[in-house]
Order: sequence, then structure tokens, then C-alpha cells
Amino acid sequence: MGLDLVYGKGQTPLSEEEKEGLLLKHISTQGQLNEAEQLNIEEAVQWTLQKKFNSTAILSETFIRGLHKRMYRDVWRWAGEFRLTDKNIGGDWKQVAILLRGLADDCQYWIDHNHFSADEIAVRFKHRIVSIHCFPNGNGRHSRLMADVIVSHLFGKPVFSWGAKSYKDPKQAREDYIAALKKADKDEMAALLQFARS
Ligand SMILES: Nc1ncnc2c1ncn2[C@@H]1O[C@H](COP(=O)(O)OP(=O)(O)OP(=O)(O)O)[C@@H](O)[C@H]1O
Ligand SMILES: [Mg+2]
Repeated sequence: MGLDLVYGKGQTPLSEEEKEGLLLKHISTQGQLNEAEQLNIEEAVQWTLQKKFNSTAILSETFIRGLHKRMYRDVWRWAGEFRLTDKNIGGDWKQVAILLRGLADDCQYWIDHNHFSADEIAVRFKHRIVSIHCFPNGNGRHSRLMADVIVSHLFGKPVFSWGAKSYKDPKQAREDYIAALKKADKDEMAALLQFARS
């Protein structure tokens, strides 16, 4: 039975080979897939809440990949592995590791020099990492959880709500989220900062 996926606004399609990395063979619809991923992600969230991490740990490739692995390991064989194909976002897959290293270094600098507010450091990290698009899929959710980890563990602030407080209509939330990301592509961060706390 094939896997018939429906892609929403701003979603990254999987290659045929990536689809073959599905570990749960009973899944055939997007709804079943979303549910299985969500269960796995909840485990990863619990894990982030139970431990303490400093910035060296959080900004390491080991943590960043390890978090993606925990979020998707029950569902996808490639959980925690960098992508080996190009996507409509993120550029050359061979550049992923080096771009990520650059982001980690920049983020450490922002933290050390109070270069931005706590929220802005986390949200800028989120936007840069999802733009690099390290993984075949799950980059959006991984980037939001990374921002939650940064803002809570490194700054002692509550995790972001990502639209959950203010929006009744998920389609509207999605539209505003994607519009805010596009503004952030032009280094206009205000809309994404506001969305993150909405
Ligand atoms: N113009 C853009 N600039 C930066 N990021 C973008 C842009 N368009 C889309 N994105 C991000 O890429 C994500 C899609 O990547 P992917 O499908 O790997 O993530 P996901 O976790 O499956 O998606 P979701 O965010 O819906 O949970 C979007 O969710 C969004 O976060
Ligand atoms: Mg996706």
C-alpha cells in the first residue's frame, strides 16, 4: 500500500526514497502519519522537560540531530539524519552541516553579548535552522521545539505558544505563520516574534 501524503502551505514534500523510510507499515494516510508523529514528538518534548542543558550542549550538532531523532525515531528511519536530497527550501544538501555550525556560532555570540532579547535569539535561531532545512522532513516542528528549548533552558522563560493561544482557525494560523517566516527571510523579525507568543 502506497503512502498518500497531502502537503499543506509551506510543507516540504518527501522523495520516494525518503517515503520508504517509513517504519510503520500500517500507515497509509496523512492523518495516520500526523498522529504517529505527534505521539512521538510528545515523548521528545517530555524528554526536553526532564533534563537540564546549557548552550554548548543545545547548540551542538549532537543535540540538534538527537532532538530530531527523538521526535521521529518511531516513525522514520532517517530521523536525526541530515537530508541527502535538495528541497524547495534550504539550498545544497551538502552545505547543511557547515551552515548549521555557522548558525550555532552566531547564536552563541548573540547569547554571550546579549545581542538580542531572549525571544529574539530563540526565534532567529528557529528561522535560520528551518531555512537550512537540515532534515528530509519535520524541520518546522523541530525548529519550533529548538526555539522552545533555547528560550526555556537558556533564559528561564516560558515556551512559545506558536499561535495556539490566539487562533481558532488553524488555516489562518498557518497563513500568518508562513507570512511571518517570509518576512523573517527579509530579516524583518517582528511578525514571527509576535506569532511565537500568540
Ligand atoms: N519562506 C520560508 N522561510 C523559512 N521557513 C519556511 C518558509 N516556508 C516554509 N518554511 C518552514 O518550513 C517548514 C516545512 O518543512 P517541513 O515539512 O520539513 O516541516 P514540518 O515540521 O513537517 O512542518 P510543520 O511546520 O507544518 O510542522 C514549514 O513548516 C515552515 O516552518
Ligand atoms: Mg512536513
